[in-house]
Amino acid sequence: MKLKIGCISGDGIGPEIVREAKKVLDAVTAKYGHEISYTEILMGGASIDVHGVPLTPEAVQAAKESDAVLMGSIGGDANTSPWYKLPPDRRPEAGLLAIRKELGLFANLRPAVLYEELADACPLKKETSEEGFDLLIMRELTGGLYFGERRTTVENGLRTAVDTLVYNENEIRRIAIRAFDIARKRRGKVTSVDKANVLDSSRLWRAVVNEVAADYPDVELSHMLVDNCAMQLVKDPAQFDVILTENMFGDILSDEASMVTGSIGMLASASLNDTKFGLYEPSHGSAPDIAGKNIANPIATILSAAMMLRYSFDLDREADDIERAVKQVLKEGFRTVDIMPEGGAASCRKCSCSEMGDLNAERI
Ligand code: IPM
Ligand code: MG
Repeated sequence: MKLKIGCISGDGIGPEIVREAKKVLDAVTAKYGHEISYTEILMGGASIDVHGVPLTPEAVQAAKESDAVLMGSIGGDANTSPWYKLPPDRRPEAGLLAIRKELGLFANLRPAVLYEELADACPLKKETSEEGFDLLIMRELTGGLYFGERRTTVENGLRTAVDTLVYNENEIRRIAIRAFDIARKRRGKVTSVDKANVLDSSRLWRAVVNEVAADYPDVELSHMLVDNCAMQLVKDPAQFDVILTENMFGDILSDEASMVTGSIGMLASASLNDTKFGLYEPSHGSAPDIAGKNIANPIATILSAAMMLRYSFDLDREADDIERAVKQVLKEGFRTVDIMPEGGAASCRKCSCSEMGDLNAERI
């Protein structure tokens, strides 16, 4: 099979972690006789430095011409980076929002898994984490507050800002369908999260999700208010299978869910549209404080590459191989600093970003 991959290395630790994920992709495609090619695409700060804008039409075109895009991370330190002196629509994050919209990437899948090998890093009480958890946040990604009308004006002498949370029923229906389809392949449970006790957009959300649920009698649906969900994620994360929610709630809850695993450096994500195309990126940010030091954890990006093989290319065997390699390397005790147990357990060996990439590639 021919795989045409667009690579957005991006900013901060992005280039380092993407390099390692490519090593692993090269190993697995060589093993199964696939042909893989990469096109480097500039986005975020890296694009601002060259073109003055975080995303050019040429970059969007290059992404569209790829089968899938693998991304590292974008953005810098908001206090020190010159990128953040630019107007908001020219900063690195604007590039990410624009590419999501341009490519119609409305479905954002963010799995949060407690790895057995890293259970000690979980900040929850032992009796809570003991049974482990494996949940997936299905976040709507191209609507809601992120893309509603916004403005800052002066009203009656007062600086006043407005952001608009808008959803139409089609936008809700298509993401709900994705959530139910995925729940079917997992443990058959959807928790739809909203703020229906206050917001009209949430009341519509709930109504449309109920309509979609009628076509999935085999999937168990429940509704939960977002504030309660934030609480339940630390109280009893094992109760969740698929959490379906709108853009802003999903942004917040997915950070919380990843923190609860204790190993944000391990979590992958996929942003999908109506076709097989997807953009795959780690759930963590660009960590500018450790950029260039070869100490970042590339595993989330490596696992994002596995998700890419699974969702965009239906290469399940290859994806399984990558996930197995990651587990194997962890079992053997190799750890980047972020997942090294405090005090450094005797059974663990510290390794760099590039060593972690090599170790995974070797085990393919
Ligand atoms: C994320 C990030 C982005 C978001 C930022 C960088 C715009 O936090 O992917 O969760 O809010 O969607
Ligand atoms: Mg976020």
